[in-house]
Amino acid sequence: MATADFLPPFMFLLLISIFRTTLSTNSPNITTDQSALLALKSHITHDPHNLLATNWSTSTSVCSWIGVTCGSRHHRVIALDLSSMDLTGTIPSQLGNLSFLVSLNIRQNSFHGSLPTELTNLHRLKHLDFGNNSFGGEIPTWFGYFTKLERLYLFMNNFTGVIPSTFGNLSKLETLSMHDNNLKGYVPSSIFNISSLEQILLGDNNLFGHLSSNMFDYLPRLYQLDLRRCQLGRIPMSLFKCKNLNILDLVDNHLEGTVPLEISNLTSLKYFSIGRNNLSGKIPSIIGNKCSYNDLKGPIPQGKQFDTFTNDSYIGNLGLCGLPLSKGCDNDAETPTKLDRDDDDDDEIN
Ligand SMILES: *[C@@H]1O[C@H](CO)[C@@H](O)[C@H](O)[C@H]1NC(C)=O
Ligand SMILES: *[C@@H]1O[C@H](CO)[C@@H](O)[C@H](O)[C@H]1NC(C)=O
Ligand SMILES: *[C@@H]1O[C@H](CO)[C@@H](O)[C@H](O)[C@H]1NC(C)=O
Ligand SMILES: *[C@@H]1O[C@H](CO)[C@@H](O)[C@H](O)[C@H]1NC(C)=O
Ligand SMILES: *[C@@H]1O[C@H](CO)[C@@H](O)[C@H](O)[C@H]1NC(C)=O
Ligand SMILES: *[C@@H]1O[C@H](CO)[C@@H](O)[C@H](O)[C@H]1NC(C)=O
Ligand SMILES: *[C@@H]1O[C@H](CO)[C@@H](O)[C@H](O)[C@H]1NC(C)=O
Ligand SMILES: *[C@@H]1O[C@H](CO)[C@@H](O)[C@H](O)[C@H]1NC(C)=O
Ligand SMILES: *[C@@H]1O[C@H](CO)[C@@H](O)[C@H](O)[C@H]1NC(C)=O
Ligand SMILES: *[C@@H]1O[C@H](CO)[C@@H](O)[C@H](O)[C@H]1NC(C)=O
Repeated sequence: MATADFLPPFMFLLLISIFRTTLSTNSPNITTDQSALLALKSHITHDPHNLLATNWSTSTSVCSWIGVTCGSRHHRVIALDLSSMDLTGTIPSQLGNLSFLVSLNIRQNSFHGSLPTELTNLHRLKHLDFGNNSFGGEIPTWFGYFTKLERLYLFMNNFTGVIPSTFGNLSKLETLSMHDNNLKGYVPSSIFNISSLEQILLGDNNLFGHLSSNMFDYLPRLYQLDLRRCQLGRIPMSLFKCKNLNILDLVDNHLEGTVPLEISNLTSLKYFSIGRNNLSGKIPSIIGNKCSYNDLKGPIPQGKQFDTFTNDSYIGNLGLCGLPLSKGCDNDAETPTKLDRDDDDDDEIN
């Protein structure tokens, strides 16, 4: 304004230098990252192999610390990998100051407690792996702010509550792994609109299915689906549009009726598990593995893939006959279907 015209030059310079100081004290640098990591270190209550205790020392650069990777451009921490270090501890709010972090991996430790809101500042994250820890509390709605996230692993923790519908914001998500938690309620339909998804693993929670019939219309890249124990009731027809589906686990879903013939549309399928349902009719010849505890009838298909399954894959289906079960088939029984695809043998679910 007009007064500025009358400021003596030295006042003007003073203002600029005050502004500069304010700017530099507010702008985070590698020192910010160092204090964030030291805060994390101080929240580790058990470090049996003394990994951080000796290595994360202020006498060396943060960028040489074990598990830490810095970017060359901004000289800030871009990746933190503390996986499988047998650490016990909690996540401090200061971790949210690692604002250049692209990858955060603390898989397979014993971190517990809930996740601090400050983590929302990590808006550059593409890879977040908290799998196989002891985190609890609800899955925060602010996960929806991680719009660059490609891989999210929260499996094998003790997360409770519902899956927030804000997950629908994660438009670049490829892997969503939240199996083996204590989640409940419906799976938000917004998730099924993320067309980049390749793996959806939600099994072994207390989720409800009742997926609408067109639920899988927008998931062309899906290759692994784990909806164990989700009370689906029926298999949504649109699932058979997911041509790349490789691994499908629908164990314990109150499925009734016959296995839809359209299952044979899934030509990439290598692992299909439908045990502990109320399915009846003939064993689907295209896949057939792992279908214990249903009401399937007739001869077990023979062929490369089926031959690798032991009889516990079929147990609990009184009407099934033929190898590997000890019950032989009547002469009347239909010749078992041959299956001679060149598949590698059963991939396990990771
Ligand atoms: C980081 O910024 C602080 C002020 O916030 C400053 O004192 C420190 O020297 C800076 N460190 C580096 C490595 O630039
Ligand atoms: C910390 O560990 C890294 C990676 O193993 C190693 O390169 C570095 O020399 C170690 N630093 C100290 C002070 O032990
Ligand atoms: C880092 O995070 C803490 C807690 O979230 C905050 O109090 C602090 O001011 C932040 N900034 C720096 C530079 O450490
Ligand atoms: C989970 O982590 C524990 C160690 O904390 C390890 O012994 C176990 O094998 C891991 N389980 C899986 C399935 O990764
Ligand atoms: C998700 O997206 C909506 C609309 O694009 C936006 O209003 C919201 O702030 C985003 N973030 C979260 C966490 O929901
Ligand atoms: C999981 O969380 C529930 C509810 O907060 C709690 O009752 C239970 O003890 C926790 N289980 C484990 C293994 O931490
Ligand atoms: C999913 O996308 C379809 C087609 O774009 C749209 O009609 C539907 O409302 C979306 N559903 C959700 C839950 O976002
Ligand atoms: C299964 O494949 C057949 C032949 O390719 C096609 O006509 C049918 O629409 C497909 N069904 C589903 C549910 O995708
Ligand atoms: C199967 O159906 C029977 C009879 O309708 C019912 O009692 C049983 O609970 C069902 N089992 C499963 C696993 O849905
Ligand atoms: C399964 O196989 C074992 C040995 O391979 C056999 O002793 C057992 O009787 C079989 N069970 C059934 C139900 O066929």
